[in-house]
Amino acid sequence: MHRKKVYIETYGCQMNVSDSEVVLSILQDAGYDRTLEMDGADLILVNTCSIRDNAEQRIWGRLEQMHSPRRRGAAVGILGCMAERLKDKLIESGKVDLVAGPDAYRKLPSLLENLSPGNPRIDVLLSHEETYADIVPVRTDRNGVSAFISIMRGCNNVCSYCVVPYTRGAERSRDPETIVAEARDVFSKGYREVTLLGQNVDSYLWKSARETVNFAELLRRVAATDPLLRVRFATSHPKDISDEVIDTMASTPNICRHIHLPVQSGSSRMLELMRRKYDRQWYLERVRKIREAMQDCGLTTDVIAGFCSETEEDHAETLSLMEEVGFDWAFMFEYSERPGTLAARHYPDDVPPEVKKRRLNEIIELQNRKSLESYRADIGRELEVLVEGPSKRNGREMCGRASSSKMCVFPGQNLKPGDYVTVKVIDATSATLICTLMNR
Ligand code: 5AD
Ligand code: SF4
Repeated sequence: MHRKKVYIETYGCQMNVSDSEVVLSILQDAGYDRTLEMDGADLILVNTCSIRDNAEQRIWGRLEQMHSPRRRGAAVGILGCMAERLKDKLIESGKVDLVAGPDAYRKLPSLLENLSPGNPRIDVLLSHEETYADIVPVRTDRNGVSAFISIMRGCNNVCSYCVVPYTRGAERSRDPETIVAEARDVFSKGYREVTLLGQNVDSYLWKSARETVNFAELLRRVAATDPLLRVRFATSHPKDISDEVIDTMASTPNICRHIHLPVQSGSSRMLELMRRKYDRQWYLERVRKIREAMQDCGLTTDVIAGFCSETEEDHAETLSLMEEVGFDWAFMFEYSERPGTLAARHYPDDVPPEVKKRRLNEIIELQNRKSLESYRADIGRELEVLVEGPSKRNGREMCGRASSSKMCVFPGQNLKPGDYVTVKVIDATSATLICTLMNR
């Protein structure tokens, strides 16, 4: 049978990267091979993100550039969050042949069968059960060391700014046996690190007739597959991260000591309007608990500047929280109103754009200073690093992450991806630890 070529571009979060790997697996079984070149592909897929308006604008721009391959006969399909959110608008644009939401990927082969110019196909049904548990993803990472494993889908929180519950539907957890099996499988293929992915991993919960498994138990089971397999996870929610999870991390050497714990704002008033279900004190208490259990735990966050009605005092509280916690790094954003969300329906987007920009710049400037402080604090320390591959800046050096998730570079003679090495930090920038190798 003649095999076709599929080219896929992925935008947005790690979850989308993981979903693209599921899509490639489904399509492989349906007679498609992956190509890294858009030119010459029979099918061009774009796995999209709707989190902020600029993410969507970028994808509309990209669709323009797909006009000529499409004229030459390639089909263009939109997957992911934007497919879910803008379904009809995408079809009406005349720029696409296929629109499939995050829970419709199993139906891609049948949607593709009946594809013809002028007959676009669409499936954006969300599901309460789909977890793609039985699908073995086609890994698209380049290093062969670090793999993503999706452990749940959807989200049951209704943060008032966030479009995700509408694009990815209700939360559902994946059978832990299939997760552990996937971890074993990637380990046997040479991978040495897995990142367990979910919108809110702390609310992972599997219930069957036989057992109930929470996130801490899942972590223990995945970590037990092999002591040489590092386990990471993202994203944690400050309201749900439990002492049990923190203590499990502290007592299990191959669970990496890094928590991505989005705070969003340092003002309790903003947090209330954002419906985050915790306040500033609660967040700081969780940080205290984490640091008490693991002094060396990496801590990173997400921050939104200029949410509805944010005052200078609210903004100052965000800065002071960031100053107090001292995150290693952060993703920092201007608030972008998303149609249909609680905030869009109930609160005016009333912080002027130039004020949002200024506040965001202040946040970024503060974080740059705190990142440098945090990275420089590691100078003199010895760290265990998993080698990922050649460093991007200097091909003769290698790079890899410390348990805390900080990127390290070091001289790399005779090292290969997947090796563990002990390094000593001799210098630091705000994003990289510069190291020497300790004797092995
Ligand atoms: N505007 C700006 N940032 C947002 N995020 C989510 N929704 C919005 C929005 N409407 C940010 C949050 C979240 C991260 C993934 O994206 O900080 O943690
Ligand atoms: Fe990921 Fe959220 Fe973007 Fe969807 S909207 S791709 S869940 S970041």
